[in-house]
Amino acid sequence: MTTVAIDPAREAPCNAAPRAPCNPAPVAPFHAMAISRAAHRLSVEGRPVFHMEFGQPSTGAPPRAIAAAHARLDSEAGGYWESPALRERIAALYRDRHGLAIDADRILLTCGASPALALAIAGLFCPGDRIAFVRPGYVAYRNAVAALGRVPVEIGADATTRYQIDARHIEALDEAPAGLIVASPANPTGSMIDAAGLAALAATAARRGVRIIADEIYHGLDYGAPAHSMLEFDPDAIVINSFSKYWSMPGWRLGWIVAPPGTADHLRAYVGSLYLTPPTLSQHAALVAMDETDVLEGYRETYRRNRAHLLDTLPQLGLGRIAPPDGAFYIWADVGDYTRDSMAFCQKLLAETGVAIAPGIDFDPVEGHHFVRFSFAVSEDRAQAAMVRFGDWLGRQARPYAKNTRRSTPS
Ligand SMILES: Cc1ncc(COP(=O)(O)O)c(C=O)c1O
Repeated sequence: MTTVAIDPAREAPCNAAPRAPCNPAPVAPFHAMAISRAAHRLSVEGRPVFHMEFGQPSTGAPPRAIAAAHARLDSEAGGYWESPALRERIAALYRDRHGLAIDADRILLTCGASPALALAIAGLFCPGDRIAFVRPGYVAYRNAVAALGRVPVEIGADATTRYQIDARHIEALDEAPAGLIVASPANPTGSMIDAAGLAALAATAARRGVRIIADEIYHGLDYGAPAHSMLEFDPDAIVINSFSKYWSMPGWRLGWIVAPPGTADHLRAYVGSLYLTPPTLSQHAALVAMDETDVLEGYRETYRRNRAHLLDTLPQLGLGRIAPPDGAFYIWADVGDYTRDSMAFCQKLLAETGVAIAPGIDFDPVEGHHFVRFSFAVSEDRAQAAMVRFGDWLGRQARPYAKNTRRSTPS
């Protein structure tokens, strides 16, 4: 039997040579999921559990958004659909937050930032392209780039650059990558890049021919100066965002991508073949959620208070080496006095206290063995109760790697 392969580049049939067997790119598991599964098992046994392992708001969508979804469910069939009103409303967000005029046609709705990232990588980069991002960074960057046959390039950063990429990192690369993923605020650190830093990155990337993917999923969740969009500095940046964080709708699976000028139709063709449209109900709810400012700012105030509480408490417990959490809802803390195995540390903590946090190895395979990430997107009561348990527990742990075994507050 002869098979005819279609070469998508030429859209003409070609007689491709039979493909050699290959091993799909290995994708590392998200270890926080194992922690979460163990935490759920404890709940089933009736043990109190404090979920700080995932970056997901515990609040749920704004009540009026939920009511809108109920009403739609009762009144319409809900077919394949991309909401023009929602795309216009998202375009208005760029006008209001950043003073940018973005044509709504450039906004493509996705099933969250995760598919938006996959769409950007698959649709705007070629197999074998090198795509860089900072380490520590969100686990899916490394995995999605590798899974899609592009080459991950990790750029290690530390406290000297607030765990962020800066223009000097890009200058220092002998071979410029095809792409660079930038997140500000970032996961797992919450640290942000200011306007000057973003402008310098954009200029260096443009000069070296590097296309930027800006993951702006934590926009809206900042606790000092507001976040800038990469589009203010690089009008060709690929921007991804989502309703999962600020709008507190992770389970509704809705996000978007701002396609660089001239690429929207090309990307829309990918959307049509990869997932058609995001859930209709979620689009109706999100349109309402976008105007629920009082509710959403209330959520942010809770995170602000939790952040202050953790920033106060953790150093008192001896965990003072903390990344500056300018935004998002995370604290990235160095637990190196206690462990060189962050997964074992998190498993023991969970088993003995019910407090679930994420091991650093999810975000940094090199240094993450002595870091953990706390997610404070929980109620104030839960955050405070979790810190009491954590503190009592930590006080009973040995510090085999501490330079100074006296308990103190490192700077
Ligand atoms: C930095 C970052 N980008 C993207 C995502 C994916 O979010 P979603 O697919 O829910 O929109 C997450 C989720 O935690 C994240 O932290």
